[in-house]
Amino acid sequence: MLILGIESSCDETAASVLRNGTEVLSSKIASQIDVHAVFGGVVPEIASRQHLEVIDDVVRAALSEAGVTMQQIDAIAITRGPGLIGALLVGISYAKGLAIASKKPLIPVDHVHAHIHGGLLSTTLKADQLFPCLALVVSGGHTNLYHMNDWTHFKLIGNSIDDACGECFDKVAKMLDLPYPGGPKIESLALNGNADKFAMPIMVAEKGRLVFSYSGLKTHMVNLINSKRKELNPEMLSDLAASFQKAALDQIVRKLNEAVELEGGTFKSLLVAGGVAASNAFRRMVAEKIRIPAVFPDLKYCSDNAAMIAAYGYHLLKAAGSDQSRFYDHAWDAYSRYDFSGARL
Ligand code: KG4
Ligand code: ZN
Repeated sequence: MLILGIESSCDETAASVLRNGTEVLSSKIASQIDVHAVFGGVVPEIASRQHLEVIDDVVRAALSEAGVTMQQIDAIAITRGPGLIGALLVGISYAKGLAIASKKPLIPVDHVHAHIHGGLLSTTLKADQLFPCLALVVSGGHTNLYHMNDWTHFKLIGNSIDDACGECFDKVAKMLDLPYPGGPKIESLALNGNADKFAMPIMVAEKGRLVFSYSGLKTHMVNLINSKRKELNPEMLSDLAASFQKAALDQIVRKLNEAVELEGGTFKSLLVAGGVAASNAFRRMVAEKIRIPAVFPDLKYCSDNAAMIAAYGYHLLKAAGSDQSRFYDHAWDAYSRYDFSGARL
């Protein structure tokens, strides 16, 4: 079965062709990072216009690299949201048009859940070795923790009550005059820094309360950087980056350790996904401190891509069984990056 995945929720236009949910025949990504870098973050209107410029070429390139025609594709999977509304509309309108013209089923896919499938694409573990599992999406827009019993059911059991982890990395980087996206820059500065140099606030210390919080850490960094601005030198910059990074990631590892013991400690694996999952510092901390096997995505599936969209689409199509009529119903809309359907914890 061949699935064409399309992604346009933020600043990457991506398309991918997957065979049988696991074999990535192509994964094309047109990144807009350079376009937005001068503004220090993603400008939504510019993002939409960029998607519009390249989406057709990106989809054609994905089909061509996979060596397949649109006629051979069995279904199209498209990011429904959450994301930037204008950016989503470009991808969704394109995908709806393509689905209607080619008479293929169209599978709307949740972007945050799809990140987990980026991790699932990168492991050889089978379902009985993975589930039930804890799944963490830690990206620029979300810090969400899920309980998963199978490929398509996500029960939200933890999230950030304010900023997302990656967003906090980006904002702190901006304060330090580092370019967007900030996470990788902070990680490379931190390599030469002393993580114990600056004391950081311990966020959400109460045991068993599965929430994350980054606004306090961010405010602490604003005040600290402002107070040190005049004496800032490369060594201090590295120490600031290392101390901040440790605090930001430590908070997640602490909560993961608490979550692992839920459900009588029966989780078989931990899946980590999203842009921050690219962090080697985070991978090391998880390897050292979490007692169940952890699955991280290959680097190419950490940040936004369409292979994860196609993979999740494949599992949704399979789970739907013989009744695929709803995938021919195009009367649904994009929803914004703020998804209020899951309860805030
Ligand atoms: O998943 P993603 O590409 O986009 C969203 O859907 O948000 O995640 C991008 C985020 C950015 O905030 C970026 O700074 C962060 O992931 N990130 C990192 C690292 N690499 C990327 N954060 C910390 N350390 C890293 N090495
Ligand atoms: Zn994403």
